[in-house]
Amino acid sequence: MTTAGASLLERLDDLEERGLSAIEAADTAAALETARVEYLGRQGALAAAMGSIGSVDAAERPRVGQRANAVKGALTSALEHRAATLESETHDSADAAPDLTLPGRPRWIGGVHPVTRVIEEICQIFAELGFSRVEGPEIESTWYNFTALNIPLDHPAADMMDTFYLDDDVILRTHTSPMQARLMQTHAPPVRVLVPGLAYRRDSFDPSHAPAFEQIEGLAVDEGIDFIEFRSTIELFVRRFFGSDTRSRFRPSFYPFTEPSAEVDVTCSVCRGSGCSTCKRTGWITIMGSGMVDPAVYEAVGYDPERYTGYAFGMGAGRIAVVRHGIPDMRLLYEGDVGFLEQFV
Ligand code: DAH
Repeated sequence: MTTAGASLLERLDDLEERGLSAIEAADTAAALETARVEYLGRQGALAAAMGSIGSVDAAERPRVGQRANAVKGALTSALEHRAATLESETHDSADAAPDLTLPGRPRWIGGVHPVTRVIEEICQIFAELGFSRVEGPEIESTWYNFTALNIPLDHPAADMMDTFYLDDDVILRTHTSPMQARLMQTHAPPVRVLVPGLAYRRDSFDPSHAPAFEQIEGLAVDEGIDFIEFRSTIELFVRRFFGSDTRSRFRPSFYPFTEPSAEVDVTCSVCRGSGCSTCKRTGWITIMGSGMVDPAVYEAVGYDPERYTGYAFGMGAGRIAVVRHGIPDMRLLYEGDVGFLEQFV
């Protein structure tokens, strides 16, 4: 071998050795890049050595060329290997030192629907006043739904409720009031009950109506229950449920199964009475229909109307949830949108 060939081979050996140790010593991606440019770059040491091949004797060129390619391969694979090692070390060190200032991820555990919560809270308040809780059938006879409650079937009140008929005299109950009659038929006074449950009407969904909706019925019958007891019980409930600064008022109304009848309004929980869209600028929200039980109902169920008196009331739980949270459209409550519902959990 000529001196020129031998010295180029030596140069390549030396270049390989230095290149490999520079690559191995690189402890950051930037240092590795510097080594790559220095040895494998277009103007790096290997390129310069290869540029000298022309000065070697033609017979020796293939051998020197092969050696140069081998050095290139060795450096390239060392470089890739080192890059991979550095990459995984970066991840490892991130794992080893978690950022303790990051907030924890809350675990979604579900929650009670705002309408269900209204029902639970109202039942709880009345439980403390001695009311038990019962539920009744959603498929009901026209007798319990209308006749027993002093609503003649040909009376506009029966029409007004836009009943779903399943048969000539079998319907989906239009309110929870039929449970008044069922309870009085099977229980002697005193009776103090709350009846939460679904009622159905042929209403289409709109911001304040749903074809199926939760109602809560209340009934108290005993000897000597008067209007004062009725009114003070409702006022106590209003203050407990809506807050002690909430006022209530009784407005004369009409229901066939109560006499006298009243609608109960409370000061708007959103604007506190000054007027807003929830209360339609009146400052008041109607929360229930109510009244003293009509003697005709006692007669229908076999109670002595001379001996017993009492009161009844019915409220819409969805409507109360809407009012309580200032929800602009009742349909939002029934769309099952967790993102919406979880703000009330
Ligand atoms: N059942 C009535 C309705 O659905 C509400 C109601 C009014 C219930 C007066 C009562 C009551 O018990 O006394 O519109």
